[in-house]
Amino acid sequence: MYDKNNAFLTLLDIEYPLILGGMAWVGTAKLAAAVSEAGGLGTIGAGGMTPDILRSEIERIRTMTDKRFAVNLMLLNPHIDELVDICLKEGVEVFIFGAGNPGKYIKRVKENHRIIMAVVASETLALRLEREGIDAIIGEGMECGGHIGSLTTMTLIPKLVRTLTIPVVAAGGIATPEQVQASFVLGAKGVQIGTRFIASDECEAHENYKHQIIKSKIRDTVITGGRLGHPARSIKTKFTRKLGKLEYESPEEVERLLMGSLRKAFQTGNEEDSVFMAGQSVGLIDEIKPVKDIIEELFSTEKIQDEYKDTVVESAKE
Ligand SMILES: Cc1cc2nc3c(=O)[nH]c(=O)nc-3n(C[C@H](O)[C@H](O)[C@H](O)COP(=O)(O)O)c2cc1C
Repeated sequence: MYDKNNAFLTLLDIEYPLILGGMAWVGTAKLAAAVSEAGGLGTIGAGGMTPDILRSEIERIRTMTDKRFAVNLMLLNPHIDELVDICLKEGVEVFIFGAGNPGKYIKRVKENHRIIMAVVASETLALRLEREGIDAIIGEGMECGGHIGSLTTMTLIPKLVRTLTIPVVAAGGIATPEQVQASFVLGAKGVQIGTRFIASDECEAHENYKHQIIKSKIRDTVITGGRLGHPARSIKTKFTRKLGKLEYESPEEVERLLMGSLRKAFQTGNEEDSVFMAGQSVGLIDEIKPVKDIIEELFSTEKIQDEYKDTVVESAKE
């Protein structure tokens, strides 16, 4: 199904070429540990964490797994320099940067013999980062949950594969074994998945957040914040409809309402004021399951629908 000697697996020293997408709030130590334990690369989503919280999440994950894990660092976090220092000091082995250009951190992370990757939505930034020495690029299509670019996974991944020599990981919209296979056919060496793992037993999000994921259909996500310059995909609710209307009338009010809205989804699941960030793959997810089952299913050729099995599996072989 995929080449087990794949350069990406060798780089990360993991069993499945799978990264848990770093998710602000949702990507806790518990969820990350479950993914690492099941053979993928679990990721703590540092999002807007303070240095103390990140330190305690790193301590917590070490009580749950001795496998390798990553920290996803959001470049817009005001404490970003301190968070990078903490990860270096605490011996985090894999750094994944999101929401911008992590160029200024590459040298330092590499000098400390750690692995560094970035989530990007454009081939120009990816190429620049490759030249600066980044280890791998995660290309994220706009089907994904959370903040989005403008290209789809289907077009972005082949473009990155043609442009770069380092491994490319596909992200955005992936939630089924067929899509995992398709990512390999497109030339990706691994997949990064976020939304699918929200609907898992080990995810610590409020039950209503998980319920929103499994009940939503393929067209039930919406983009908010586009007019504010930071478009993000989440599940359509009365609250997002209100935000959509307000974007034209009062962008300041939208900024105010968005503040803390993912935290509310995670902690309270209250539909009145929460934003349930999630990708289009909600339409492909209908069950809350243990992380291990999700991963085994994603990488099982048994689960590929019969009519596609032969062609897809053959063409994905390297
Ligand atoms: C709730 C949520 C929060 C996210 N937060 C971040 C983040 O802080 N940093 C980041 O690089 N990506 C973030 N992402 C994107 C994920 O890391 C991942 O790339 C994305 O979920 C993959 O697409 P999918 O949701 O279709 O699986 C977030 C996604 C979700 C759903």
